[in-house]
Amino acid sequence: MLKSDPKRFYITTPIYFPSGKWHIGTCYTTIVCDAIARFKKMDGFEVFYLTGTDEHGQKIEKVAKDKNLKIMDFLDEQASSLKKLWELLGVGYDKFIRTTDDYHVKAVQRIFSKLYEKGDIYKAKYEGHYCTPCESFWASSQLIDGKCPDCGRTTELAEEESYFFRLSKYTNQIIDLIESNPSFLNPKSRQNEMLNNFLRPGLQDLCVSRSTCKWGIKLPFDEKHVAYVWIDALVNYISALGYGSDDDSLFKKFWPADLHMMGKEIVRFHSIIWPALLMALDIPIPKRVYGHGWLLFGEDKMSKSKNNIIDPIELCSRYTVDAVRYYLLREVPFGNDGAYTNRAFLLRRNADLCNGLGNLLSRTTAMIDKYFSGVLPSPLVDSELDLGLKETANNMLKHIRCHMDALSVPDALGEIWTLIDASNKYIDETKPWVLAKNNSDMPRLGTVLYNLAESLRIIATFLSPFLIDTPNKIFDCFSLECPKLFDGVTAFGLLKPGTVVKISDKLFDRLDVEKELSTIDAQNASLGCHDIAKTDVSANENAFPIIKSQIDHNDFSKLDLRVGIIKTAEHVKKSEKLLKFTVDIGIEERTIVSGIAKYYDPSALIGKSVTVVCNLAPVKLCGILSNGMLLCAEDSSGDVVLISPHKDLQAGSVVS
Ligand code: MSP
Repeated sequence: MLKSDPKRFYITTPIYFPSGKWHIGTCYTTIVCDAIARFKKMDGFEVFYLTGTDEHGQKIEKVAKDKNLKIMDFLDEQASSLKKLWELLGVGYDKFIRTTDDYHVKAVQRIFSKLYEKGDIYKAKYEGHYCTPCESFWASSQLIDGKCPDCGRTTELAEEESYFFRLSKYTNQIIDLIESNPSFLNPKSRQNEMLNNFLRPGLQDLCVSRSTCKWGIKLPFDEKHVAYVWIDALVNYISALGYGSDDDSLFKKFWPADLHMMGKEIVRFHSIIWPALLMALDIPIPKRVYGHGWLLFGEDKMSKSKNNIIDPIELCSRYTVDAVRYYLLREVPFGNDGAYTNRAFLLRRNADLCNGLGNLLSRTTAMIDKYFSGVLPSPLVDSELDLGLKETANNMLKHIRCHMDALSVPDALGEIWTLIDASNKYIDETKPWVLAKNNSDMPRLGTVLYNLAESLRIIATFLSPFLIDTPNKIFDCFSLECPKLFDGVTAFGLLKPGTVVKISDKLFDRLDVEKELSTIDAQNASLGCHDIAKTDVSANENAFPIIKSQIDHNDFSKLDLRVGIIKTAEHVKKSEKLLKFTVDIGIEERTIVSGIAKYYDPSALIGKSVTVVCNLAPVKLCGILSNGMLLCAEDSSGDVVLISPHKDLQAGSVVS
């Protein structure tokens, strides 16, 4: 019997190609999965989190040769450096698989035999292209400008005797899997990509062995061939659980996987080839495959081959592991690409970790120390103001669980920052320093400080899956241990009055962003990483604000945006900034005042199409009631332009 207990959770990252150098882009998948795995553990699931290294194939053979190393020496060193990196980043996997491990080799061989005996593998000649960096086969018709469609690099012509897997046979089953089970592959854009680019045109049988590459697992029925590295690699997800071995208890317990997570460029291996193989083997398919976006540097995918990488070890040692984890988990819009810039990283660190969270902790603990000699007071005098804070805290588990189930990790963190912001606002509103002036207000002051301490305990509890040291530092201030489970610890009001409270050391020191950026640039330049220095300098010049927190479709649908046509335009008397417009929005004409006098001659705007926010509450500007807003964009030089449709549309056309 396969897994029946819904409280188990099997999550995997792709196994990493040892390439000599790890960067924060490669850390992304693993850190995200780590946060999900930790969250699930705290939420009461028995979790198995798998990661590892993908150690066969032509690329490895070549890299080791270029480095003049024996392949296994190179691989041992790489696996050990990756494990150290995961340790540094606080990644708590349950198993680290290496595809050179014995049990894995045996499982791959068994699977090949099974498929061969079943008639799903046959011998033929491969004629086509091969991309060594991606270890992918491509037909000429699939190349883009003669290059690999995935990585844009030059491919080699390959002509060799091979074994083929009857992938084409499974086309309709995979289409059905994706179409009738929308939660199998996400985000939705990846479903369309797989269906339109690969499945609907019809799958070709897949070459699954190499006879020209020697570094691989020998096929049991033909030792001149080694397994194609992608088939070898995909099998890790079940070989790690003991599939095909004498002890397959983990397989029975955890398969099918609850979540295979990977970067978008390798989704087709996981959502087409892998399920087809499993179907051929009569093994249940994984429940969910998620292809996240890339971490970019500038406009490019961060990757060693582009020499645009940011070293995670360097970043952690300068700015702490938690700052790196926080940035990756919060800033990169999950499912989409997200650009890394040193500026955005430093700004996030200062704003959210140092100001938001750090200040809350230091202010709260310092006030408990000052006004109550470091002993947590009892909550004796409630007020209306406390209700919002308590409600936000009490709803956290429900909201965060919902975001984590949807794999919206940045939103889950956003939820925690809602409580941090609410707590800081609560300090501003309750003004403890004013309460402290009156003896009669001491019970209320004690309540306020108790509530803040309790918020911090809840904040630390929910931060535990995401950050490593910070939650412990917060718990330490309140003489508490980090809880193992959310169960029973997330309700407001559990902290014991009388607890000894320590003043916190600074959680994160405030950095001078400009100074840091110059230091980083100087260091990059002296290390010869001119591209990185230059890219970040230009990012500085652009200085666009960081992306605001994500909103959902429901939030967006509240906006009523329409095309408007400007009927009249004039300067507002006594104002250098404002122009007054009459705008036709189809169903009526509106008066709208806009601060764009510096950028436009009003007479030149008459008859122009613009985008109008129609349901914004009216405001009075220089005595004129402005009923709506004209959308504008500002570039990095400060120039402001109205946003217009690129061809004429009727007034009132809905923008969505
Ligand atoms: N070995 C294969 C996976 C086989 S799984 C059966 C492989 N390895 S990889 O080392 O190239 O990539 C490992 C993971 O790192 C992938 O999820 C990949 O998408 C991710 N990333 C590598 N560079 C990345 C970014 N710049 N940004 C985000 N993720 C990136 O593919």
